[in-house]
Amino acid sequence: MLEIRNIDAYYGKVQVLSNVSLEVGKDEIISLIGANGAGKSTLMKTVMGLLRPKKGSVIFQGEDITKIKNTKIVSRGIVYVPEGREVFPEMSVRDNLEMGAYCRKFSSREMKTHLEDMYEIFPKLGERQKQLAGSLSGGEQQMLAICRGLMSDPKLIMFDEPSLGLAPVIVEDMFRVIVKINQIKKIPVLLVEQNAYMALSISHRCYVMANGMIRLSGRSEEMLEESDVKKTYLGG
Ligand SMILES: Nc1ncnc2c1ncn2[C@@H]1O[C@H](COP(=O)(O)OP(=O)(O)O)[C@@H](O)[C@H]1O
Ligand SMILES: [Mg+2]
Repeated sequence: MLEIRNIDAYYGKVQVLSNVSLEVGKDEIISLIGANGAGKSTLMKTVMGLLRPKKGSVIFQGEDITKIKNTKIVSRGIVYVPEGREVFPEMSVRDNLEMGAYCRKFSSREMKTHLEDMYEIFPKLGERQKQLAGSLSGGEQQMLAICRGLMSDPKLIMFDEPSLGLAPVIVEDMFRVIVKINQIKKIPVLLVEQNAYMALSISHRCYVMANGMIRLSGRSEEMLEESDVKKTYLGG
């Protein structure tokens, strides 16, 4: 589905990614964990064509997209939900969702079906569809940002630290929604998280990044057991 091959990326003269390779298969949830500053967001920006790698390539559905423009990458079906729940606060919940589908020329009937799908995944958004997005709680805004990303019916979705700043109960809800998206809509997920324990518990496989390099990778179940991973990333 998505194959990142031997990427080197720089901000100016500073190298931020070194020989990074990562793969997301059909139907998989892949987590990418690692400390603040490791290079996780930079990797996502590279996939989205927002930063050009100096070396390496990004292959999506068998095609090389390394040099393709960001807007073209979006229309090929990769959705990126960045850090910091960016919703349009002065617009209604429903209008926010419809914005997510702007690049697809959906008929009003298709639009309705997609909205209903979102309200099924997260019923609160249905109850509050006319409310201004800015009046939602932090957790609900994050859910709205996620559902807005889903509105375009993506082929792959990437989440950047969706749990950041959310209360623990809401974090659990949100991870449950991510699993649901993967299972019901059959969308592969690349999940970037500092909440390593949660990310490992819902993902099939995992990559651990430090200082711009992939240090470890494997099945998430096994990583949860691994004593080194526990010590370094799960707090003992
Ligand atoms: N726009 C930028 N310009 C210069 N350096 C940046 C920029 N964004 C991030 N960095 C640096 O690149 C490194 C990796 O950052 P980032 O990919 O955001 O890490 P993570 O998402 O894992 O926390 C950090 O050292 C960060 O300071
Ligand atoms: Mg980041």
